[in-house]
Amino acid sequence: MTRSHANNLLLGMLCIAGLFLGVTACGGTGEGPDTGVTIDTSTAPTFSEQEKKLISSLSPLPPLPSSPSNRYADDPKAALLGQHLFYDKGYSKGGRVSCATCHAPDKQWGDNLPLAKGLETVKRHTPTLWNLAYQRWLYWDGRKDTIWSQALSPIEASKEMGTNRLALVHYVAKNEALKQSYTNVFGSFPDVSDTNRFPPEGMPMPDQPDNPLHQAWTSMKEEDQKTVNLFFANMGKALEAYQRKLVSKDSPFDTFVEGLKTNDASKQNAISNEAKWGLQIFVQPESCTACHNGPNLSDGEFHNIGLGQPSSLPEPDIGRFDGIPLVLSDPFNGLGVFSDAPKDSSNDKLRFLKSDPQETVNTFGEMKTPTLRNVALSAPYMHDGRFANLDEVIAHYSIFGATNPSNCVANQQANKQPESCKMTQAAIGHREETMLMLKLSASQTKALKAFLETLNGKPLPQELLGPPANLP
Ligand code: HEC
Ligand code: HEC
Repeated sequence: MTRSHANNLLLGMLCIAGLFLGVTACGGTGEGPDTGVTIDTSTAPTFSEQEKKLISSLSPLPPLPSSPSNRYADDPKAALLGQHLFYDKGYSKGGRVSCATCHAPDKQWGDNLPLAKGLETVKRHTPTLWNLAYQRWLYWDGRKDTIWSQALSPIEASKEMGTNRLALVHYVAKNEALKQSYTNVFGSFPDVSDTNRFPPEGMPMPDQPDNPLHQAWTSMKEEDQKTVNLFFANMGKALEAYQRKLVSKDSPFDTFVEGLKTNDASKQNAISNEAKWGLQIFVQPESCTACHNGPNLSDGEFHNIGLGQPSSLPEPDIGRFDGIPLVLSDPFNGLGVFSDAPKDSSNDKLRFLKSDPQETVNTFGEMKTPTLRNVALSAPYMHDGRFANLDEVIAHYSIFGATNPSNCVANQQANKQPESCKMTQAAIGHREETMLMLKLSASQTKALKAFLETLNGKPLPQELLGPPANLP
């Protein structure tokens, strides 16, 4: 199935959903209805044994997982080079954009913008890089499966850094310190001085065969292309080695969980009573921990939470459905020649990915579950930055954009709601049916938000928050 077939199918689904639910196109997220439940914050809730077990599974953050596809992932010299590359605007088109332009260390590795802006505005919101090393897939749609291969895309994206792999290899070749540093990490730097063999600019652009950049690339010998690709992959591997250090742990919530496990009352006081009530909502069955689970508060997978299609956007963002074919065909993926993973690694996640669009149709509109660590500091939210604050996020989970929430039944699965519980906007794809409509009262909303605010971790050492003092 092609992309346009897929969109037609999706639009069909939207129309059917529209007829069925009587959807009208109007905006507004709506306030949470007050079901009257008032939380008494002078006492703490009592957690059941089952709740305690679930809460214990959310902390502590385990040691950094290994990165088998990148043999430099834990090399300190590679990390220093990667740190330099992360903050260097010099190699972007016009020298204006670095990774840190959008993933700023003082903005929770994001940009606080609804939609990212590099050389131009991008169609998605910048995700945080906190605890990146714990992610299974990269991007909202998971179109990358390794952190090093992800890093290559923004470099060549015309709206982001706008350069290309040949320009990058010449940039390093001309910069003695950088070239030496590359050699120190990776052993040797390729000789690209013959510009007949290595044109000044170029990259593969199979979608635009007439583009001069693509033509320059295809004019090259295969072995020279491989030389440049190997260099390019190594740049990504250095960037991964740095980004692996962006770890957030030791939040007040982690202290609380430690206190819960060891019966230490003073550690349990690390979070307020109100936050504990919020935690109880968070771990309720079919509530938040259905997806935001494990110590990174993310299952690392893709879900459809029923966000409506904004009328301002021409095309629905169908997320994972588009991401699957892209990650499978990526020459830099974990199964490719640039990966350092053993070729017979039978547990590679790509091998289990279904590629037949007929089988992946249920992934329409699915996005990756983001981590919630430091989430209170990283507004706005969602893949398109549609929610300005946590109140708006919680209002979504509370009523799923119902036009008249008082007609909806609290704690009932969204698909079992009465006909009169209508949504203002048709969901992109199909919201997961197990999701409960929580219909939180004002005081429950406040409690849930107080819980999310306990997930702010300790700051990183200052030396990681900018370019390194020296290159390795
Ligand atoms: C123009 C702003 C911009 C620049 C520059 C940029 N990024 Fe991003 N980054 C984004 C956006 C937007 C996304 C999400 C895009 C998507 O999902 O389609 C993203 C996603 C990511 C992710 C995936 C995170 C996750 O949880 O899935 C990583 C890692 C990342 N960027 C690292 C980098 C690195 C490394 C650089 C520099 C080489 C860089 N970015 C440059 C905006 C930017
Ligand atoms: C069915 C899975 C699922 C459930 C249940 C769920 N979430 Fe999410 N959550 C997601 C996904 C997927 C996204 C990203 C959606 C998008 O951007 O389109 C998300 C996004 C978020 C965000 C925005 C984070 C950011 O960085 O943009 C917050 C905050 C959040 N969820 C909190 C909660 C809370 C609180 C609950 C319980 C009331 C909850 N979630 C229940 C899957 C889920």
